[in-house]
Amino acid sequence: MRIVFIGPPGAGKGTQAARLAEFLNIAHLSTGDMLREALAKGTPAGLAAQPYMDCGRLVPDEVILQLVDERLKQSDAAGGALFDGFPRNLNQAEALDRSLQTAGTPLDLALELKVDDAEVTRRLAQRGRDDDQPDVIAERLASYWHETRPLIDYYRHHRVLRTVDGTGTPDEVFARICAAVKAASPAQPRS
Ligand code: AP5
Ligand code: MG
Repeated sequence: MRIVFIGPPGAGKGTQAARLAEFLNIAHLSTGDMLREALAKGTPAGLAAQPYMDCGRLVPDEVILQLVDERLKQSDAAGGALFDGFPRNLNQAEALDRSLQTAGTPLDLALELKVDDAEVTRRLAQRGRDDDQPDVIAERLASYWHETRPLIDYYRHHRVLRTVDGTGTPDEVFARICAAVKAASPAQPRS
């Protein structure tokens, strides 16, 4: 399966994507994790991304699309992929669609994790990652509402959208996600 996770910062995308990717035995592609790793290694992509990540803005599409393109060529992505934090705008969504269509493996599901701004702000304030300072959280939320949220309509239009309540315990959220994945899975042939 090819699945996209969409949700504001702190919605639980990373927490749930890691668990679902393991459960489905598919690759977990988190562009945020890939950027943080690139930054730690001091690669050109990491250095280009740093000023944007530091202030909570989206990293330019060409940096992101190249990272994703390279990652999709790795063998573990051949059997399926869960995209966490990608795509983040319409241009990225269209690029992903093109590349999945070319590979003959179109997107099966876009899963929206819905959590309100007050709750995600509370979660991020407790976590304390480098970009979890109040002004950066506010900018990340603004990026989400202005640039990423429109993808909900895009995927609804493409009939792959399912929305899941992201509040409650991680186990409760995971159970809702599994139900959404099951509903979106192609029917198994009867034997
Ligand atoms: P990215 O790393 O993607 O961060 P984000 O979207 O801001 O979201 P987070 O990773 O903070 O939250 P999450 O939804 O994964 O939640 P998590 O599971 O961690 O992006 C970082 C930056 O990189 C961006 O600002 C941008 O600059 C750049 N970037 C990345 N991708 C890009 C792209 N495609 N295009 C351009 N730029 C890009 O959970 C959060 C906290 O809540 C944790 O402490 C967790 O333990 C807790 N938690 C999880 N679930 C629950 C629950 N059910 N109840 C209570 N607490 C919970
Ligand atoms: Mg994350």
